[in-house]
Amino acid sequence: MTSTAPRPLALSAAGPLRGTVRVPGDKSISHRALMFAGLAVGESRITGLLEGEDVLATAAAMRAMGAQVERGEDGVWRVHGVGVGGLLQPRTALDMGNSGTSTRLLMGLIASHPITVTFTGDASLSSRPMGRVIDPLTEMGAEFTASPGGRLPLTMRGICPAVPIAYRLPVASAQVKSAVLLAGLNTPGITRVIEPVPTRDHSERMLRGFGAELTVEETAEGRVISITGEAELTPQQIEVPGDPSSAAFWIVAASIVPGSELTIANVGLNPTRAGLVQVLRMMGADITEAQPRIVGGEPVADLIVRHAPLSGIEVPPELAPSMIDEYPILFVAAALAQGRTVARGAEELRVKESDRIAVMAAALEAAGAHVEEVADGLIIDGSGGDPLPGGGTIASRLDHRIAMSMSVAGLACSRPLTIDDVSPVATSYPNFYETLDAVRR
Ligand code: S3P
Repeated sequence: MTSTAPRPLALSAAGPLRGTVRVPGDKSISHRALMFAGLAVGESRITGLLEGEDVLATAAAMRAMGAQVERGEDGVWRVHGVGVGGLLQPRTALDMGNSGTSTRLLMGLIASHPITVTFTGDASLSSRPMGRVIDPLTEMGAEFTASPGGRLPLTMRGICPAVPIAYRLPVASAQVKSAVLLAGLNTPGITRVIEPVPTRDHSERMLRGFGAELTVEETAEGRVISITGEAELTPQQIEVPGDPSSAAFWIVAASIVPGSELTIANVGLNPTRAGLVQVLRMMGADITEAQPRIVGGEPVADLIVRHAPLSGIEVPPELAPSMIDEYPILFVAAALAQGRTVARGAEELRVKESDRIAVMAAALEAAGAHVEEVADGLIIDGSGGDPLPGGGTIASRLDHRIAMSMSVAGLACSRPLTIDDVSPVATSYPNFYETLDAVRR
């Protein structure tokens, strides 16, 4: 990844937001589409792929390991895979940039291939824990030499044949679940993941779509996902739905800016991702779902969101996995709501692209909001819909979702709010600011 110079930006109060927004393709689904197509024999075609830096890092890694990955002038991505078991030794280290999903899922894929791979990343990614993936993949037979604390840069040596395991997830993490399942693809026998708390199930849905033998059972212990190894994947045509995590910024922006009405087209509403919509409705948001349909095996609808006064609530902690990436923007909604919002049970936020509890507490305080930081979340006393004072400078800390969340907060501030660096937005939403210009009046 090329490192870009910091790009500061000042955001100020907006008139009503109006119009129709099309959010980019789902980031989680885009990574998986490239990886699974890269393992199928024959040509897969992917439309609606998110062309953000994180997904481009996955494309480059799959190319470096032998897959042909090309973008046509028509915007369709064509992938010729190497076959399960066919990943080649890359010639150089794989630079994962800012992308935890690329890193952890590819570690899973590589674990059951007889190749040695070094992963590097930016300062944010290099501070994130990889032990959660190293542990189960070590049980399967892969070997790791990681930087202190189980971090990047790290080198791993995959093994073939790997050993199938049954692994109970110690943290609610779709990345860890997916890493083990992907290692299981090229492992003889059945690899199982037991998931006490459900997390996003895109890997399960898409692996089945590619023809893998994968079963899901609901048991007293949780969801048991079993994959039969030495799988053959058949190429697919995949249409990637719009990313609910990107839609989240517009849902909150329209909710907090008086007079707004936005239509957000083609939003993925997989129940394992849709927690924010549920929570915002509990707070009084006006969100209508239109034209429900299935796109790429995932439920999708257009959302119509109108400004509405929000009230503080206790956010149900059990919803955390289904909205884990949406807490930063939820905190912004809470800062404009009437009364107190308590959002706890979200300690995983501390190990995202930044420590999203500490960074959002500092950011909202700099904007003049009333925030108390606790170990597993934030307690926020909202303004009751009045603009926040603004005027401060926000540190985005190499975290795209902090930059976008605080940009939305800037639309509801009396004085301009400056973000020190919005360049990280390119990892997941390259045209976010063009869209913002188009909808603000
Ligand atoms: C993702 C899973 C989540 C999420 C991340 C994408 C995925 O991470 O925060 O942005 O695509 O599987 P965890 O698995 O660490 O919860």
